[in-house]
Amino acid sequence: DRHGDDRHGDDKNSTGRLLRSDARLPEPFTSPLPVPPVLRPVRTDATTDYYEITQRPGRAGILPGYSTEVWGYDGRFPGPTIESRSGRQVVVRHRNELPVPTVTHLHGGVTPSRYDGYPTDVVLPVGGRSAGSAGAIAHGSFDYAYPLGQPAATLWYHDHRMDFTGPQVYRGLAGFHLVHDAVEEALPLPRRERDVPLMICDRAFAADGSFHYPSIDSSLTGEPGVTSDFMKGVLGDVILVNGAPWPVLEVAAVRYRFRLLNASNARRYQLALDPPPPSGTAFVQVGSDVGLLGRPIDHEAIDIAPAERFDVVVDFGSYPVGTQVTLVNRYGTGSTGHVMRFHVVRKARDDSTVPPRLADLEQPSPPSTITRRMKFSRSGSHYETWTINGQAFDPNRIDAQVSLGATERWLITTNADHPVHIHLGHFQVLSRNGGKPGPYDAGWKDTVDMRPEDEVEIVVRFNGYRGRYVFHCHNLEHEDMAMMANIEVT
Ligand code: C2O
Ligand code: CU
Repeated sequence: DRHGDDRHGDDKNSTGRLLRSDARLPEPFTSPLPVPPVLRPVRTDATTDYYEITQRPGRAGILPGYSTEVWGYDGRFPGPTIESRSGRQVVVRHRNELPVPTVTHLHGGVTPSRYDGYPTDVVLPVGGRSAGSAGAIAHGSFDYAYPLGQPAATLWYHDHRMDFTGPQVYRGLAGFHLVHDAVEEALPLPRRERDVPLMICDRAFAADGSFHYPSIDSSLTGEPGVTSDFMKGVLGDVILVNGAPWPVLEVAAVRYRFRLLNASNARRYQLALDPPPPSGTAFVQVGSDVGLLGRPIDHEAIDIAPAERFDVVVDFGSYPVGTQVTLVNRYGTGSTGHVMRFHVVRKARDDSTVPPRLADLEQPSPPSTITRRMKFSRSGSHYETWTINGQAFDPNRIDAQVSLGATERWLITTNADHPVHIHLGHFQVLSRNGGKPGPYDAGWKDTVDMRPEDEVEIVVRFNGYRGRYVFHCHNLEHEDMAMMANIEVT
């Protein structure tokens, strides 16, 4: 029933349909956790660091015994990590050697519209024919300039091509972009090899080991209600962390900082540690999507929706050496019920702590009444269309005009699971379902996890730049099925 249950997966907490792998899957906790390499600038000057990334096909040994083609930044999945300094400009020359147009978006970045990765601002492949190039901003390569006048945060970059973000990210176009600043550096948080980004996503693999993504065309022509279910969200049965299936990381019995990113197309997770630490809570959250929290928050488990980031500290110090600690997904079942494992292999000196105060969080004062209402819902006629205020995305229609520097109060409502993401404007959650914000709503955010029938009020600020930006559902299949709208900052 297309208008009934939106969940055909292995859990009741993600909207989508589960795709099962035909490839032979490995035993979990056998691959070591990869950490993406940090990219070196090709040059730097007084104000700017310059980078070059080639988007190209590559080969990855993800499942033992198979080679998987990825579309990656520098041919890698995840892409290389960029580490920047708040206030120093970064210019990334993205060269497109893929067979398709691409668009690159720095998620969480406060970026001029021209460089923000608007969905139709495509960069055509190198040497590609110019047919279909209407609206393309470049042939072959484009220099994305990021001022990064924003606080320390765990940002990420990924493909954003209109109608094709789901398949292009699924094939590997995603990477971390970390921003550091003096406030963060003065904190005694775990550092270096004890500060680890974890990109969590699910995939399904075909019999030959390739990524299996359902074709959008078959949802149009295929049996209604079966293939089109994938447009509710694509869920895979293999959980990857930094591109490896259910990996294992050897840790010392000390604190680690993990920058959790849910880079899945549609899957939500509830992350917990098994066994839980003998003393203390599992996760001490120190940062949200776009910056540090004012004060740390203890969590026994963390709900994380697509595109959200949770910057957390885990203290392995209370586990006896030899303990295997599994990062589990309480919303999954079977193969999706676990994510990765930490093996506590030795004692070590720990000079890190989590101080009771982290950063001075500015509290924006919200307007006393609601400025705008945004309803995320489905309209199913021939096939699934996901809409905002009843309308499908139209690049030529401005849906919200805001003035530069404005602080607005939005009421967002939903009828299914929709991680709602706003470009440029960072926000704080004011209320959830008429009550206080939820346990996972703290801090400055760019994405809010919305469950069916949820009502969330946010205070959002549009600072920085004029121009056209989007906001959309970050379930990538919903996004590709037009659950997106335009903001014009004037
Ligand atoms: Cu993470 Cu508009 O995207
Ligand atoms: Cu959605």
